[in-house]
Order: sequence, then structure tokens, then C-alpha cells
Amino acid sequence: MTLHRRGNQFLNQFSCACCVTSLGFAEMRKVVLVTGANSGVGLALCERLLSHDTEGLHLCLACRNMQKAQAARSDLLASHPAAQVDLLQMDTSSVSSVLSAAQEFKVRYDRLDYLYLNAGIMPNPEFDVKAFFKGLFSSNVITMFATGEGILTQKDGVTTDGLQQVFATNLFGHFLLVRELEPVLCHEGRTSQLVWTSSNNAHRSAFNPEDIQHRTGTQPYSSSKYATDLLSLAFNQHYEKQGLYSSVICPGFVMTNLTYGILPSFPAILWTLLMPVFWLIRVFTNTFTLTPYNGSEALIWLFRQKPESLDPYAKYHSLTSGLGNNYTQPHKV
Ligand SMILES: NC(=O)c1ccc[n+]([C@@H]2O[C@H](COP(=O)([O-])OP(=O)(O)OC[C@H]3O[C@@H](n4cnc5c(N)ncnc54)[C@H](OP(=O)(O)O)[C@@H]3O)[C@@H](O)[C@H]2O)c1
Repeated sequence: MTLHRRGNQFLNQFSCACCVTSLGFAEMRKVVLVTGANSGVGLALCERLLSHDTEGLHLCLACRNMQKAQAARSDLLASHPAAQVDLLQMDTSSVSSVLSAAQEFKVRYDRLDYLYLNAGIMPNPEFDVKAFFKGLFSSNVITMFATGEGILTQKDGVTTDGLQQVFATNLFGHFLLVRELEPVLCHEGRTSQLVWTSSNNAHRSAFNPEDIQHRTGTQPYSSSKYATDLLSLAFNQHYEKQGLYSSVICPGFVMTNLTYGILPSFPAILWTLLMPVFWLIRVFTNTFTLTPYNGSEALIWLFRQKPESLDPYAKYHSLTSGLGNNYTQPHKV
């Protein structure tokens, strides 16, 4: 009888110890938050993060559309059944949505190790065919293909908060999110990373410090990405002492919903027929990464680096060689 009671006591102690240990392991999981995680580069990044480390990560997909978010989560769990994948509803263009998402995040998690600020839009893009053909026969042709400089303009809108839509979605919502998540990002004795999906299309000429929302111009996308690069630099200066580091990347030219939106009337078959041309262009410019997997190369590369070793003045580019090999290269911002 005594033996039986002692056995039970031991079992209880053992199961408590197991609980504590497993809780310890759960707490040790690194928490990664990805915005715009349900498609394109963001979804490819999530897939690659889980392939890199299924057990040690707690992945949280922040998306505006929960149906799309559920579908992305199901896809990820189908290939990584043991993974921890949560969803968080957030519309980066809405101040109230960002504030409540940040609040919800802080209730659910007590740490955030990686924050990928990836959601982005390029609404109503207009492709300047005349400038494109002019560029084709100029010495600027490679730059034009690599950066889209001079051939893309957009018609911006205004959000219900009264902000320019591109500025709010690509930049301001993310800025607010970082500020709200400071308590979980900044911890003594531990580093955290912000990684912004910027672009080659971030041109200084498109950004006016007197008009940071780009109310008056026709290149709000380029302006928002240039401002992203500046903000990342400023965040590094502001947060470095608190162990929070910020980096910007460019995924290259990737075939995603955003890219297909540049020529919405273009039938899918034409895009497919264009692919061999794009592969050929890749021989001349390694920025034609083309697939979301390749485009997420710099994002996953940064995940593997010690943030203290990174250059705050660099933009990390996902690149794909003519033979299809992926690599990451820093270029001064
Ligand atoms: N594709 C390229 O060639 C290229 C080149 C340079 C930089 N980038 C950048 O790469 C990032 C990812 O874009 P992508 O190419 O992967 O295009 P994508 O497939 O269209 O992905 C964009 C993601 O952002 C989300 N999003 C858009 N507006 C949002 C909002 N208001 N709130 C929350 N989420 C929102 C989208 O959600 P929904 O599905 O609900 O729309 C989607 O998940 C963007 O920042 C883009 O600027 C892309």
C-alpha cells in the first residue's frame, strides 16, 4: 500500500517535471512574426523557415484576410505537421487593426525574435510602354530591367484613417507595429531582428522629405520603399542598444500576385510564354529571381546570421545566377 502511494507520488513528480521541461522547451521556441504571409515571398519564407527548423520555431502569420491565412496555414502544416503555426488578423493599412493585432500578440506571446515586415502593395500600376521601348535601346537597359526605374507609376488611394494607401500599407502600419511590439522585441541579454522587404525600386528621386506620404507624385511604391530603407537605418540607431537590429532586403523580380497586377489584362498563358525570356534575361541580371522561393533567399539568409554582424547600411539582395543558383549579396543603401 505504502509502496503503491509512493509510486503514485513519484509518477506525479515525474509528470510535473515533464510538464515543466516541456513548458521550458515551448518557451525556448523562437517566435517569428511574418506580415503578408499568405502568398508570394512571405509564404515562401514561412515554408523555408519551417524546413530549416520545424521544432524550434513558433510561427505567426499576420494577414488581413483570414480565409487566405487559413489556407496558407493548412498548406504549411501539410508539409510540416509538427510545426506550431498561428494566425493573427492584421490589416497594415489600418491604424486600429495594427493596434489591436499588436495588443493580441502581446497577450499571446512574451517574446518576438524575428519580425518580418513583408506585406506590401503596388496598386493600379501603370506600365509606361513608351519609356520601356526607349529604355530597351539605351545604355540603361539592364538597370531598367533590374529596378523598373522610369517604367512604373501608380495611382494611390486614401485609407479610412486619411493616410495615403501605399504609405500606410507598406510603411506606416509596420512602423506602428514595431513601436507597439517594443516590449516583446527588446529584451536584456537577447537580440531580436526586424527584416523589411524593400525593393530595387526604392529610388531617392521618388522620395520627398516634405511629402513623406507621396500625396502629390506618381511613384508612391518607390517612395514607400525608399522610406523603408531610411526607417530601417533610423531604427538601427534608435534600438541597437536595446538588442534590436533592423535590415532591409530586396527579393529581386519575382512572379507573384503583385507582379501579375502590373499587367492585369495579360492572360496567364502570356506570362508562361514570357518565362523563357525572363530566364534568358537572368543570364544578364541576377536580380531576376522569378520564383517566391528564390526571392525569399535573403530573408532566410538573414535568419541564419548574427544580427550584430550585419551592416546597417546594406540592403541584402536575393539573387539567382543564370544557372539557377541562389545567393545573397549586400549592397550599400
Ligand atoms: N514581386 C516582386 O517582384 C517584388 C519586388 C520587390 C519587392 N517586393 C515586395 O515583396 C513583398 C511581398 O510581395 P509579393 O511580391 O510576395 O506579393 P504578394 O504575393 O501580393 O504578397 C503581398 C502580401 O502582402 C499582403 N498585404 C497587402 N496589403 C496588406 C494589408 N493592407 N494588410 C496586410 N497584408 C497585406 C497580401 O495579402 P492579400 O493576399 O490579402 O492581398 C499578401 O499576403 C512586398 O512588400 C513587395 O513590395 C516584391
